Amino acid sequence: MAMHAIRIHAFGGPEVLQDDTLPLPVPGHEEILVRIAAASVNPVDGKIRAGKHPSVKDDDLPVTMGRDLSGVVEATGDNVQGVAPGDAVFAMLGWDRGSYAQHVVLKLGEFTPKPQNLSHVEAAAVPLAALTAWQGLMDHGKLQKGQRVLIHGGAGGVGHFAVQIAKAMGAWVATTCSARDIDFVRKLGADRAIDYKAETFEDVVANIDLVYDLVGGETQDRSFKVLKHGGRLVSTLQEPDKAGAIAAGVTGIHYMAAPNAAELAEIGKLLLSGRIKPFVFATYPLQEAAQAQAALEKGAVQGKIVLTVDP
Ligand SMILES: NC(=O)c1ccc[n+]([C@@H]2O[C@H](COP(=O)([O-])OP(=O)(O)OC[C@H]3O[C@@H](n4cnc5c(N)ncnc54)[C@H](OP(=O)(O)O)[C@@H]3O)[C@@H](O)[C@H]2O)c1
Repeated sequence: MAMHAIRIHAFGGPEVLQDDTLPLPVPGHEEILVRIAAASVNPVDGKIRAGKHPSVKDDDLPVTMGRDLSGVVEATGDNVQGVAPGDAVFAMLGWDRGSYAQHVVLKLGEFTPKPQNLSHVEAAAVPLAALTAWQGLMDHGKLQKGQRVLIHGGAGGVGHFAVQIAKAMGAWVATTCSARDIDFVRKLGADRAIDYKAETFEDVVANIDLVYDLVGGETQDRSFKVLKHGGRLVSTLQEPDKAGAIAAGVTGIHYMAAPNAAELAEIGKLLLSGRIKPFVFATYPLQEAAQAQAALEKGAVQGKIVLTVDP
């Protein structure tokens, strides 16, 4: 039995993506084999492809692209309970496998049931982006009900979940975005949308408990000014400046999101109740993964881009 997988054999632009035929993986101890219905495209995919991500080095090539998916269980390995062939699941993967493929093996602790009210395409948009938002706001940001949050980049893949999760947790939410995304982030629940090209966010908000930074650079450096003493600056991009954090009396954190089935199940409950929703901006068939990555890198994407594998 064989499957298609989109891999890279060398680092470069979207043109290095290659449609390869590989043997079907076999689920081992505490693993399941999943037929992938849809997989999402994340900025990390482009960074890996370009050789700009520390997780994948020359020696690791070739690698299958893609870090999350929704699909249907096809087989189970030994010592697997509570999940059976035919069940729909969604998951974020560890670094050692890829989801731009027809099948993948998942480990216990990576997957959870797909929310029944979502299609596979919608569910595939969730795992990496929503887990990143959850871990940034909750685990590292220690977000509490009633706090004031500023999210930089609230219209993107992670940001559109972050705005909704922060609102679901009872926070007051401001977010920076492009002018064309103002209505979008308002519909997600943002209390204040800030056009980052027309407004200076430091002039608009103050006394912020948590800045969630999905942009980095000078946007991150300027964020110290809006934080309360004792506040937090949590970034997916880079370690906040230590001297700046001390001077402002805040905690600065950079983190890497990781698979976590228990947290994905919490996110699943919010999805099932309709309190948060994925927004799928565009879909591409698996074979057009290169065009999908190029579209995300061009920018101006609201929410997520998803690859359809076998929807
Ligand atoms: N550490 C981790 O584990 C982890 C996990 C997930 C993501 N990330 C990183 O976090 C970043 C965000 O991820 P994502 O999936 O949300 O990316 P994305 O879907 O590309 O969204 C980025 C958003 O930021 C907006 N933006 C760009 N410059 C901005 C600025 N100066 N001020 C405010 N908004 C701005 C973009 O809008 P325009 O296109 O209109 O400019 C876009 O809406 C990426 O760099 C990604 O690699 C890291």
